[in-house]
Amino acid sequence: MKSDQPELHPARGDGEPRAAPISRRDFVKAVGGAAAASSFAPSSRQAEAASDGTPEQIHLTWGDDPSRTVFISWASPGQAANPRVTLWRTSGAQSVIHAVQRTYTDGMNGQTVFTYHSKLHDLESDSTYRYSVTADNDNKRKTPFAASFRTAPRGRRAFRWTSFGDLATPVTSWSMSSPQSHHAVDAVERFEPLFHLLNGDLCYANLNPTMQPAVWADFGNNVQRSAANRPWMPCPGNHEIEFHNGEHGLSSYLTRYSLPDNGTRFPGRWYQFKVGSALFISLAADDVVYQDSGPFNPGPHALRPTPSSSHAPIEPGTSLYIRGYSEGMQTRWLEATLAAAEQDQSIDWIIVQMHQDALSSSKTGNGSDKGIRENWLPLFDRYGVDLVLCGHDHDYERSWPVRGCNHDVGRDAISGAAVDTCQPRPVLTSEPAGGQFDAGRGTIHLILGGGGTSAPVDVYGANAQNGLPQAKVITKANRPVPGRVAGVFVKHGADAVEDAIWSARRNTVSGYGIAVFDLDPGPVNGNTTITMRYYHAVGADQAPSAEYELFDTIVLTKQHRKGNTG
Ligand SMILES: [Fe+2]
Ligand SMILES: [Fe+2]
Repeated sequence: MKSDQPELHPARGDGEPRAAPISRRDFVKAVGGAAAASSFAPSSRQAEAASDGTPEQIHLTWGDDPSRTVFISWASPGQAANPRVTLWRTSGAQSVIHAVQRTYTDGMNGQTVFTYHSKLHDLESDSTYRYSVTADNDNKRKTPFAASFRTAPRGRRAFRWTSFGDLATPVTSWSMSSPQSHHAVDAVERFEPLFHLLNGDLCYANLNPTMQPAVWADFGNNVQRSAANRPWMPCPGNHEIEFHNGEHGLSSYLTRYSLPDNGTRFPGRWYQFKVGSALFISLAADDVVYQDSGPFNPGPHALRPTPSSSHAPIEPGTSLYIRGYSEGMQTRWLEATLAAAEQDQSIDWIIVQMHQDALSSSKTGNGSDKGIRENWLPLFDRYGVDLVLCGHDHDYERSWPVRGCNHDVGRDAISGAAVDTCQPRPVLTSEPAGGQFDAGRGTIHLILGGGGTSAPVDVYGANAQNGLPQAKVITKANRPVPGRVAGVFVKHGADAVEDAIWSARRNTVSGYGIAVFDLDPGPVNGNTTITMRYYHAVGADQAPSAEYELFDTIVLTKQHRKGNTG
């Protein structure tokens, strides 16, 4: 924990402000130090940067087909003139791809953000490309930024991906940031994955509400060391939701990322892509979770946008709660996507990415959310999702494979009355013989929330009677309510508890780590495997550490789908 943020305790492990009186002066101090105090006027950097088109925050994402399409995206301090990518193809041919500009003006401090996106298509699979990024007003145009990337293989081929969530930035003046997020980016590079899954809570800009674009810039420039070399595929977390920043507060996120199209009126929030024999589905869990964990002003003072803005002050007790925004569209899309995958004999594996957790027994974090259990776990069961990769609680927890749920076995956290938490039902409760999980039997959930935030929460719940794992479960909306101090509002945590009979492994040593997945297609008509190795940063809870050591290994195995031809 940072020592300079006494008012913004991550009360539920995720940076949500605990209800405590916060003066306007303290709020400014907490959200960004002295820099924030002057942030309502355009910064001198912004004025100087108005004509600066130098690319920064450069990052890659997959297009609809990762074997053929890659996006190169970046930002620049001012509007870029003739922004473009030069691509050297495997044949040696050189082509120039002009970028599309997308901008938004931050609703809190009035800063306009310029981003650029070049779509590279008709690429060859499993091939390395070199590229450079520049503009006519690039201060480095004589030696523009250059890097290389590799496209995805097609068919049943081996590949590696990595994953964590909750990264923040290395700039410790921002709330929730820590030097560990620098080490986490280096860790991705060390394992050289084909791509990285970033499971939400990218930079916590919404906890620094008067300086959001600056926080995003620090995040983008930190991840560039890896994300310019390989796609980083994100999903939105609760800290991507920002006051006065577009529909559902997602303008900062959506403007910066070009992602596979989902064919709905909510582009960029959820999507799918296929690499080799694996289908990856990225979901926006804020659409279904009960918990209210987006931006929140506990009071007692209003949070006022820059005077140049037409936006209203954020009054005490206001939170941006977006549950249900797609009115079931995302869940219908998910079911259609899974049903199509069932018919696709080239797909052996289904991996889901989302931010919040259906199965977490963190004591100091958020816990499990019944909204995901109700909306999506039945679909994961029906269509045999193999892995669910999350973040949100800043720790590592692995579930047993689960199928179905037990009803009415939870308890109200206060009264002790029976509550239906839809307790997931494990299909086994010991490590399998030979160390290999039969992937057809259940879905394994992994909490990978140890990217780099300043708030590890690797403390887990236990049943006071028997010492066995116990989980908090959020079964209803915890909207702000008046606190004990006049004008100050609070949000209560999880309302229920259950025995975490589904919890297989919890890391009490370190809240930080990275999961490395190696998919082996196996022999034709044989078994295919995914080996997951979780590496944690020992000692990083106390002091940032660049050393990551192996903590947990599991192997999932299954037969190829019918119709496999290798
Ligand atoms: Fe987080
Ligand atoms: Fe979160």
